[in-house]
Amino acid sequence: MTTVRDLRDADEPITMLTAYDAVTAELVARAGVDVILVGDSMGNAVLGYDSTLPVTVDEVASRTAAVARGADEPLVVADMPFLSVGVEEADSIDNAGRMLKEAGAEAVKIESNEHTVELTDQLTALGIPVMAHVGLTPQSVNQTGYARQGTEPEEAREIARLAREHERAGAFACVLEHIPSNLAAEITDELSIPTMGIGAGPACDGQVLVITDVLGLSEHPPPFAEAFGDARGEIESAVAEYAEAVESGRFPAEEHGHEAPELDDLDELY
Ligand code: KIV
Repeated sequence: MTTVRDLRDADEPITMLTAYDAVTAELVARAGVDVILVGDSMGNAVLGYDSTLPVTVDEVASRTAAVARGADEPLVVADMPFLSVGVEEADSIDNAGRMLKEAGAEAVKIESNEHTVELTDQLTALGIPVMAHVGLTPQSVNQTGYARQGTEPEEAREIARLAREHERAGAFACVLEHIPSNLAAEITDELSIPTMGIGAGPACDGQVLVITDVLGLSEHPPPFAEAFGDARGEIESAVAEYAEAVESGRFPAEEHGHEAPELDDLDELY
């Protein structure tokens, strides 16, 4: 089982992918990926919402439990959805604790801001490992949109400061999303915890992407993602072939069914 300490000691780039169900988690684990993030990206990726904002604690907990059942080896990190942390201290601790106690996650990820520094310290002290997340934080879509972050010096300094503050508060890793590569390199150099880049260039200690983007399932992938497969095409053609087989009478064939010899006298059934 991968632990947060293993990530710190890793001498190869750390691999991290999202997953939202047991089957995908099992395949991701089998491919040797180090960390599975049950991201609130599930909102757009698989739940049909327009953003991550409607995703609930129950949805993340249920999906995290499925992922934890499917994958033994990778570190399972549950994403804390919009407003599930940072409003009331006791609720934040309860919600984060649920992901470990009930859902089987080994850590939580929190989109970082000024108000999550103290919370990171509290959760870490209680034994809940926290992954920080700076740069583009999609839960702030109504303030920042999905634009690149940290392109101006003052904004870049603020992102670097937030990352450092969360490291000091005990975060075990930090996601750097959609920021310039040179800023990500500088932050990676400065921090002693691993940085996980998404749209942040190659200098980070690891990389993370959303599984539906990697598989080629997303209709509108972000510019920094790459499709390493064509799952959309594969699914479309398999489903079309199935429909054609049913409509043409080719499926089911004899080998897909069975007859019970004891039921020879079916006339007596009614
Ligand atoms: O929700 C998510 O999947 C994320 C990653 C993109 C880092 O936050």
